[in-house]
Amino acid sequence: MSEQLLTVSDLSAGTDDKPILHGVSLTVGAGETHVLMGPNGAGKSTLGHVIMGDPTYRVTSGSITFDGQDVTDLTADKRSLAGIFLSYQAPVEVPGVPLYSFLRTICQKRPELKTTARKFRTRVGQIAEQLDLDQSFLMRELNVGFSGGEKKKIEMLQLLLLEPKLAILDETDSGLDVDALSVVSRGIEAYRQNVGGALLVITHNTRILERLTVDRTHVMVKGHLVAEGPASLIDEIDREGFSRFEQPGVAAVGEKAEA
Ligand SMILES: Nc1ncnc2c1ncn2[C@@H]1O[C@H](COP(=O)(O)OP(=O)(O)OP(=O)(O)O)[C@@H](O)[C@H]1O
Ligand SMILES: [Mg+2]
Repeated sequence: MSEQLLTVSDLSAGTDDKPILHGVSLTVGAGETHVLMGPNGAGKSTLGHVIMGDPTYRVTSGSITFDGQDVTDLTADKRSLAGIFLSYQAPVEVPGVPLYSFLRTICQKRPELKTTARKFRTRVGQIAEQLDLDQSFLMRELNVGFSGGEKKKIEMLQLLLLEPKLAILDETDSGLDVDALSVVSRGIEAYRQNVGGALLVITHNTRILERLTVDRTHVMVKGHLVAEGPASLIDEIDREGFSRFEQPGVAAVGEKAEA
């Protein structure tokens, strides 16, 4: 059993008017790959955002511990510096901020990534090439006018540059064409191999998982984690859908079925 990197403990959270997550508990060991699945609207993205510290959501009970530190009340930038990364399901556009300056600024804030302008340029150039991204993207405003697939690749570029200890990938595969999907999958594999970081992959698709060894699968329904099991649980869901987890009472009691 690897050392625990992330421990989410009995976490309930939501917006001011809507409770979304109910008593969620989850642990991810250092370097492990976990998959989070569940029907639309189950609360998967919300969990990712709450772990990242998105102020849209309020934690009403429970805690989040990361790398030995209770981060429940830390702001998102502090969690990011601690080594948590979230790739957005719908990346935001930031007019007026060129992508390259954005990347340079976030790296200069991290002692381990601080480097000369020249070395930084080379490194970013290499990663962009690895992701089949034209260098001209680097000079454009962050995500402004980028296609859906291009935005996902920019998220990947940040992941490979920042080398976090934990990457939460929220449907990074959605909207990617078959070639882009393979480029992004290779990027994730490179992160796993070169950085040895942990992954929490939120997805509706198994293609993105083909190159990864999955340690654990979690199923969320109506804000409850209702099942946890090995990688084979993904194939079962692929075949049979979520109906067996959606039986009346299953979500309500929030019990975990060993699959
Ligand atoms: N900021 C918000 N304001 C109001 N409701 C929200 C907010 N964020 C999430 N919700 C609601 O919480 C529920 C869970 O949403 P969430 O985006 O976490 O689902 P999901 O499991 O990621 O779904 P999908 O698979 O469609 O991406 C939904 O009913 C959603 O409308
Ligand atoms: Mg989502």
